[in-house]
Amino acid sequence: MNEKLSQIRQSILVGIEKKATSRATAFELRKQFLDSKNGEIGQLMKEMKNLAAEDRAEFGKQVNELKKWATEVFEDLDKKMKEKELEFKYQREKIDVTIDADAQEKGNLHPITQMRNQLIDVFAGMGFTIYEGTEIENDYYNFTALNTPADHPARDMQDTFYLSPEFLLRTQTSSGQIHVMENSKPPIKILSPGKVFRSDDDATHSPMFTQMEGLVVDKKITLCDLKGMLDNFVKKIYGEDTTTRLRPSYFPFTEPSVEVDVSCFECGGKGCKLCKGTGWIEILGAGIVNKKVLENCGIDSEEYSGLAFGIGIERTAMLKYGINNIKLLFESDLNVLKQIDDN
Ligand code: PHE
Repeated sequence: MNEKLSQIRQSILVGIEKKATSRATAFELRKQFLDSKNGEIGQLMKEMKNLAAEDRAEFGKQVNELKKWATEVFEDLDKKMKEKELEFKYQREKIDVTIDADAQEKGNLHPITQMRNQLIDVFAGMGFTIYEGTEIENDYYNFTALNTPADHPARDMQDTFYLSPEFLLRTQTSSGQIHVMENSKPPIKILSPGKVFRSDDDATHSPMFTQMEGLVVDKKITLCDLKGMLDNFVKKIYGEDTTTRLRPSYFPFTEPSVEVDVSCFECGGKGCKLCKGTGWIEILGAGIVNKKVLENCGIDSEEYSGLAFGIGIERTAMLKYGINNIKLLFESDLNVLKQIDDN
């Protein structure tokens, strides 16, 4: 019988050694030996009846000792397994706060979008609302209604992409002026941003670029209103010390027409490379809306007058951010684009 007892003791130790890898497997082992009914130690008691009466007390004592020993062994084992599992969990969930974080790239808006938003902000502050026209126009809205009939030499100023004899890709956001004046009565104060297209391609011209048209129609609108608005615009975009000057120019749809220069914000007007030594940089075309254009849209040119301007968004952005080739704005080179973050 004693042999049997030491065999059980042995198989408990071997079982633990070989099978107890977790709390669950340790528990299974414990059940195998210590389960009150079917456990191997419990089963020993059944053999009591086969023993001589005088041996029974001694045997009972030894079984109890084995049981006590096994209980302690399994309790100890359970504790160890619990610690092992906790340790494993800690290892798995450990956070090393000293590890460098993955660098997160911060996105920014495209410079043209940034400039567009800044311009909208400035002019919205002066009471302008947005009108977005369409990129496909017919000949009437892009040219004829803007006092540029078919044989007009000014058509040569804007090399046009025709889609058909009648339809074309608009060469200027000025076409929006006509739509707005046809559909609303003065007072009118709109800003029309959008893409325009010309068959033109060099360091400062791209076949697709963006303009921001401004149109104001009301009683007694003069060049002074235009100059005041443009001064405000250049101060907000290029700095408080900046101002504008107007030079006579020609557009069929404005009379008089002006070319607007901004005082050089790089050198303050002394003359530098950017302003080619003149102290001034040409930034946009503008003028008083030609009476013929008002009349084409059914607006009484005796009662009302208007001003219009067309800002090139790329040019405005190139000057502000020191970009010397318009292609840099269209090539999507992130090394270039992420340097310009003005928001
Ligand atoms: N549409 C002209 C251009 O694209 C600019 C302009 C707009 C001039 C409004 C005068 C008035 O060149």
